[in-house]
Order: sequence, then C-alpha cells, then structure tokens
Amino acid sequence: MTMYYFLGSLFLLLLLLFKWWRGWTKMTRLPPGTMGWPLLGETLELIAAYKTTNPEPFTEKRQSRFGPVFKTHLLGKPTIYSTDSEVNKFVLQNEGRLFASSYPMSLEKILGKNSLLLTRGHLHKQLYSLTWSFVSSHVLKSHLMAEIEDIVCSTLSTWRNYIGQEQVIYVQDEAKKATFNVSVNQLLSTSVDAEWIEALRKEYLLLVEGFFSLPFNFPGTTYGRALQARSQITKRVTEVVNQRKALGNEGIGEYQDLLAAFLKQKLTDEQIVDMVISLLVAGYETTSMIITLAVKFLTDHSAVLEHLKAELNSIKNNKKSGDKLSWSDFKSMVFTQCVINETLRMGNMVGGVFRKALQDVDIQGFTIPKGWIVFASFRAVHLDEANFTDAHVFNPWRWLGCNASSNLNFKFTPFGGGPRFCPGHELARVQISVFLYYLLTQFSFALPLRTYMS
Ligand code: HEM
Repeated sequence: MTMYYFLGSLFLLLLLLFKWWRGWTKMTRLPPGTMGWPLLGETLELIAAYKTTNPEPFTEKRQSRFGPVFKTHLLGKPTIYSTDSEVNKFVLQNEGRLFASSYPMSLEKILGKNSLLLTRGHLHKQLYSLTWSFVSSHVLKSHLMAEIEDIVCSTLSTWRNYIGQEQVIYVQDEAKKATFNVSVNQLLSTSVDAEWIEALRKEYLLLVEGFFSLPFNFPGTTYGRALQARSQITKRVTEVVNQRKALGNEGIGEYQDLLAAFLKQKLTDEQIVDMVISLLVAGYETTSMIITLAVKFLTDHSAVLEHLKAELNSIKNNKKSGDKLSWSDFKSMVFTQCVINETLRMGNMVGGVFRKALQDVDIQGFTIPKGWIVFASFRAVHLDEANFTDAHVFNPWRWLGCNASSNLNFKFTPFGGGPRFCPGHELARVQISVFLYYLLTQFSFALPLRTYMS
C-alpha cells in the first residue's frame, strides 16, 4: 500500500513539476517588455498618450527598448504588442484558427455582443456577407454612389448661406454629418427624418466617447454616459424596427435597406440593434476623420492641393453642368486615391486591432500564450522608416503606380486584412473622393486657410 502511495505522490509531483516547467518555459519565451502596475498595467500611460496630439511615444519608447514585438499589460489583459508587419500578417490571416477578434469587456458592453466586430464563426460569416452585399462596388456603381453624392451636395450646399459672412465652418462636423447620413440611409433609408437622425447622432457621440475611457459605470462618468446613450439608441432603433415589422412581409419587401435585409433573415431585435451600432461605429467616425485629416494635410501642402484640384477640375470640365459623377469618373481619380492612401497611412484613426490567442502560438522565437491579447499595431508599421522612406512626410506621389487597394504585403493595412478585412473599404473611398471633389471644385480654397479641428 505504502508503495502505491509513494508512486502516486511521485507521479503527482512529476506532473506538477512538468506543468510548472511548461509554464516557466512559456513565460521565458515571452517577448521582452514591462507589465506596469498590478491590474492597471500600462493602460493609463496608453490612454494619456492617446489624449495628446502625438500618441507615438508609448509605442516608440518600448520599440526602441525591446524591439518590434514586446509584452505589456493593457485594459486589464496581458498583451503582446506587435509593430512588425510579418507578425501582424500572421495574426490577421489566422483569425478564427489561432486567434479571434477580441475587445476589452468594457467595449463589448458598449458595442453589444452581436456586433459584427465581435461575432465569430457562422454568425460572423452570415452578417459579414450581408454587410458586404450592401456596400460592394456593384452596389456603389448601381445607385449608392449617386445617393452619396446627393447627401454630400446637400451638406455642402448649406455653406453657401455663409458666403460673405465671418462664419467658421468646422470641416470635421460637416464631414461627420455627411457620413452619418450616408450610414443611416443605408441602414434605415427613408424610415427616419432629419430630426431623428440628429438626435441619434448626439447619443452616438456620447457612446463613442466611452471607448476611450476607464470602464467605471457611475452616473456622471464618461463610461456611464456611454452606456446610457447605448440604451437610448436601443430604444430609438427598436421603435423603428417595430414600425417596420408592423408593415408585414409585403411592406418590408418594399424597402431596399439593411434593416429590411436583417428582418428578412429573421435577426432578433437585439441582433439588429447591435448591428446598427456596429456599422455606425465602423463606418462613420473612421471615414469622417479621414476626410478631415485629408483637408488638413491639403491646407498644409499647397503643391498637393494644386495637383489634386487640377485632377478634379479636369473631371468637372469634361462634364455637362448638372451631370452626376459616374463610376468611371471615380476610377479616373488616380491622384485622389494617392491622397487618400497617404492620409490613411499617416493619420488612420484605427491604430491597430486586438486579437486573442486561442492556443499557445509560437512565432519569431516567441510564444504568445493562450488567452493573451495581441495588439497588431498598423500605425507603427505605417510610420516605420523601414517600410516607407521619409515616413513622417506627407507625400501622396509615393503611391503613384501602386494599385489603390494593395496592402504591400501587409505593410499598408488601414482596412485590416484576413477574414475581417473591412467590408466598407470601397464605400469609404467613394465617400471621401466625392466629398473632396465637391469641396475642391465648387469652393475656392484660398491659402493660407485656417483649419480648426474640434
Ligand atoms: C476610412 C474609413 C475606414 C477605415 C479606416 C476602416 C478600417 C477598418 C479596419 C482596420 C477593420 C478591421 C477590424 C478588425 O480586423 O478587427 C474594419 C472592419 C470593419 N469595417 Fe471598416 N473602415 C472604414 C470604413 C468603413 C465603412 C464605411 C464601413 C461601412 C460598412 C465599414 C464597416 C466595417 C465593418 C462592418 C467591419 C468589421 C468586419 C469584421 O469584423 O468582420 N468600415 N474597418
């Protein structure tokens, strides 16, 4: 009997030793880095960096000390932070197999668990292809581009009222109005009026502020206000869903928007609300920010502005007055795409993406332990001198001769990559191009122009 006890204890001891050894070797094969404070990790440093005009030092300081891949602790999770395009490529391409999209719990609460950004497997495929079918180049070509043009023109036409007045126009606000209207138009089309859209937009802005805050849900905190805004948005959208449902199948069939598609596919009310929020989040802030930054870069670089004006005016001069832009006009905006690419490279607000390791993953001599988060930083890759000569200089000409949608072997990934590649990439390009076209061909853009960004 004692013999069995002895052997049993020895076996247990060996097992424990083996487990400890595996854990230990895994830990010693982690990339270098610092984990910061208990629980908080290095989150405050990251948030502080993003609240300034230059978020780079957080990354650059660690990159120069530890190399392109380092460990840290962010938003409550141990994290591998990658500034290496090869690692980012591997992570993006192995979505669903070795890694899964992952966002901090606080963000998941704001987005909702059925958000396209968070769903996985079959539901993700279903919702992704549904979204794609509404924003593909085919749809843009057939009617969406014309609708975008109407929305942009009606936004810019209000500027005429200010002619001759000392009136400040905030490009960012105007771009936001236009892109928000485009998104709502696709989602809910004519079911809602301008007042409803503006009320939704105000609540939505409170919701977005919650993304960049500490997740303390108390009255008066940014995060608390974001969650409150989410429940207001839920109420509003659910009302529209109920009105639409009351029309019955035939009535629903008359609509060509995403809500009709969601209802036909029998999505639940909760899924619909989460999808509406996720599409607004994914498409609105991103596109309007790129428009604003493009205008900012143009005002700072007169040679680029002149070159772009020449391209857009030559398209305008080949059209009869009142003619709409055609798909081939859009395709002929070669330098415009260079300006958009360069703006995306230097100022993309999607700094990178979060993924969670589904198992231990060995890469470049390091181990990413199961359950750890990987942050694939696009911003760092885009601003790396090894990838782009004079990386901090705004030079749209560098893109001439490149395919507009090429990702240069994952060195240029403003729209991500792999199975979660942004379905709205072409829609975004069309919106930005149309906005720039009307801005530069209908308004005189005198320099020096003072630009204000709120
Ligand atoms: C300049 C504008 C835009 C930028 C920079 C951008 C960037 C991105 C990036 C980097 C991702 C990948 C996220 C990840 O891998 O986790 C993404 C995903 C996504 N984007 Fe965009 N996007 C833009 C515009 C749009 C627009 C206009 C739409 C409208 C339909 C849209 C819809 C989406 C959706 C639904 C996803 C989630 C895909 C998924 O998780 O499967 N985006 N976007």
